Amino acid sequence: MTTNHWKWASTYADSYPHEYNVRSWHVLPRDWDRFVNLIVSFGRPQNFWSTPRPYLFLDEWKYWRIGDVLNRADPDKTYGHQWVSDTVTEREPTWYDYAAPVYDQLQGLVSLDELEDVRTILYEITRVPEILDVGCGTGKLLDLVEVPMERYMGVDPSQGMLNQHILKHPRHRVHPWLLADVPRRFEASTVTALFGSASYLTPGEVVWADTLARGRLLLMFYDQPPEHDPDLDDSSAYWTAQTLGGISEHKLGRWRVVVR
Ligand SMILES: C[S@@+](CC[C@H](N)C(=O)[O-])C[C@H]1O[C@@H](n2cnc3c(N)ncnc32)[C@H](O)[C@@H]1O
Repeated sequence: MTTNHWKWASTYADSYPHEYNVRSWHVLPRDWDRFVNLIVSFGRPQNFWSTPRPYLFLDEWKYWRIGDVLNRADPDKTYGHQWVSDTVTEREPTWYDYAAPVYDQLQGLVSLDELEDVRTILYEITRVPEILDVGCGTGKLLDLVEVPMERYMGVDPSQGMLNQHILKHPRHRVHPWLLADVPRRFEASTVTALFGSASYLTPGEVVWADTLARGRLLLMFYDQPPEHDPDLDDSSAYWTAQTLGGISEHKLGRWRVVVR
């Protein structure tokens, strides 16, 4: 992919010099699709003026995708104010980074009934001044309910998942943090950890979620470990959640829900 079929974008030679490569030029676009997935899994977010998107830095180029067009340019060229450095994570990639490009399409992760039930709970607990979405992933909370960008903050250690979040909800702020990294000043009226994110928290992080939540708290644990992570053991975190003050718990589809 890096050596074939690149055309100089002569119309933009002065304003935004770059080359491009169109999906339909390929008889078998599988390599094109794979390359685009790499951008989501391992790209770093940069702004083009006010619109953020992931860029893959490889050899002497940076690559990005717009619709059916793959573009590449000098990595030193940026346009508009750039994000601060804490939007990039240097962690070892996890299953979530690799799965990020197709995470929303993976069948069986969440059923429509489960989505509807959670949406009903979210309607009630997201009409508040601030929401901290822990393990925000690709932004399912924002897919389900409307939350103005100034009221939302998402955190997740997977840059790949955050890249999808940025592509879907470019105005909503996210940070590449574990919950343990979230500073006290980011306490919020509601704290959520949706669709299994609570199962990845340490017991200390569960207590931290409780501390950061000034009002409502919604922790969704897997009922059984997911197929992609059969050894996931959340028993200590779940037990800790059960000891928090003022909570109730119930089962919802494939989830154990702890709510306050
Ligand atoms: C099952 S996914 C759920 C994603 C999203 N909430 C959704 O509903 O689609 C779990 C997410 O938790 C993130 N995660 C893992 N450990 C975490 C931690 N300690 N703090 C915050 N998020 C974490 C993973 O990177 C992953 O994106």
